[in-house]
Amino acid sequence: MRAHPAGALHGDVAPLSHAPLRVPADLNALDPSVWPLGAERRDGALVVGGCDVRDLAAEFGTPAFVVVEPDFRERCRAHRAAFGEDADIYYAGKAFLTRAVARWIDEEGLSLDVSTGGELHIALAAGFPADRILLHGNNKSVDELRAAVTAGVGRIVVDSDIEIARLAHIADALGVTQRVLVRVTVGVEAHTHEFIATAHEDQKFGFSLASGAALEAARRVLMLPSVELVGLHSHIGSQIFDTAGFDVSAHRVVQLLATIRDALGVTLPELDLGGGFGIAYVSDDDPAPPADIAKQLRAIVARECESSGLPMPRLAVEPGRAIAGPGGVTLYEVGTLKDVDGIRTYVSVDGGMSDNIRTALYDANYTVTLASRTSDAPAMLTRIVGKHCEAGDIVVRDAWLPDDLAPGDLLAVAATGAYCRSMASNYNTVPKPPVVAVTNGEPRLLLRRETVDDLLALDMA
Ligand code: LLP
Repeated sequence: MRAHPAGALHGDVAPLSHAPLRVPADLNALDPSVWPLGAERRDGALVVGGCDVRDLAAEFGTPAFVVVEPDFRERCRAHRAAFGEDADIYYAGKAFLTRAVARWIDEEGLSLDVSTGGELHIALAAGFPADRILLHGNNKSVDELRAAVTAGVGRIVVDSDIEIARLAHIADALGVTQRVLVRVTVGVEAHTHEFIATAHEDQKFGFSLASGAALEAARRVLMLPSVELVGLHSHIGSQIFDTAGFDVSAHRVVQLLATIRDALGVTLPELDLGGGFGIAYVSDDDPAPPADIAKQLRAIVARECESSGLPMPRLAVEPGRAIAGPGGVTLYEVGTLKDVDGIRTYVSVDGGMSDNIRTALYDANYTVTLASRTSDAPAMLTRIVGKHCEAGDIVVRDAWLPDDLAPGDLLAVAATGAYCRSMASNYNTVPKPPVVAVTNGEPRLLLRRETVDDLLALDMA
């Protein structure tokens, strides 16, 4: 996806356009801003987490997701160090969550944002401390709410009037007091793809600030003894490259903190600004380092609180992609090549939109390289497509690859650690690929490959 600054308040979501295609100077080069920490070529082949991708493909098959554990952990540490101990960093589990990932998050001192009962279940199965879990969702079921309250999750972000009533009833019946944040729709038009912008008025999440619904929600929560209002939440969207949108959203949400203090007599101690920090999918993308983002967010909130005479609240953020995305790589094997006269060569791989829907869904842009060898052949313009019965089944829309590319070659697509396996489907009865964690030359299976028999087992004939 192209870089789009957040923050314009009015107007349409910016159209997504790809940068003009430049033939790269070196087709074998690995841009460290796009590839995982420590990625290199050894003997011509791509090596990630110390593992030669040819060995990974031989052992685990293709397509396969590979997660460089030190890269993931390093990004946790960078966020931890950037935001400091007086802030909470909730890793957004929707980006990618397994029990091992939940343990990495725990070991690195982060908290966890789950948005369904399924994600909650995995976190609890991993032994993740419930009090460091925050539950999201615009339509949490009674069962999901009850499971969360029973487990003792630290925070639930309430998203509708109906849910407030449901949650209060559940907490009351269980004889506990549940901490909650109110999700506020701040009216910021994040300039990212329409489907991943979440704080403009006309969408399903949260309580509108402009209409007064958010203040009313706070009032309602404060009146109910089994729910304790601890703060406000806002999330303006995803794959955001600058802090302009956060500036506006923090301004508005801090104003609401002041209104709540003035109108309801309560100074709320917490402010969660959500996630959405962008990453580099292609070399032109230029995300800010976590330290810069943290410094700017803190300064923005401090400034706004000072002008409203409020104490600095405890800050929380919810990065998903910025932690899980860059350390992940997808390995594919080339199956067929088709030269479409004078336009480009279609390169078909053994996966596609079932393991990466983001290109079709958001017009996302990715970097791909020939991973099983180097080549000095001239560049050819390709489109990397999958094996599904759908013309829009595109993995990488435009890519330069060596023109001696052949069936059996391995391709690697960078920055697929977030929202690829977690958004995978079984379209065309294609089993989901495995996920292999790599550390210091050691591969470890996090998720095994699905089999058609797994899918058949659901078929009750
Ligand atoms: N917090 C909330 C309330 C969210 O809704 C999300 C993402 C996050 C945090 C994490 O956002 P991140 O830091 O990962 O950008 N599937 C899409 C993005 C939509 C994600 C929805 N919510 C994608 O593939 O880009």
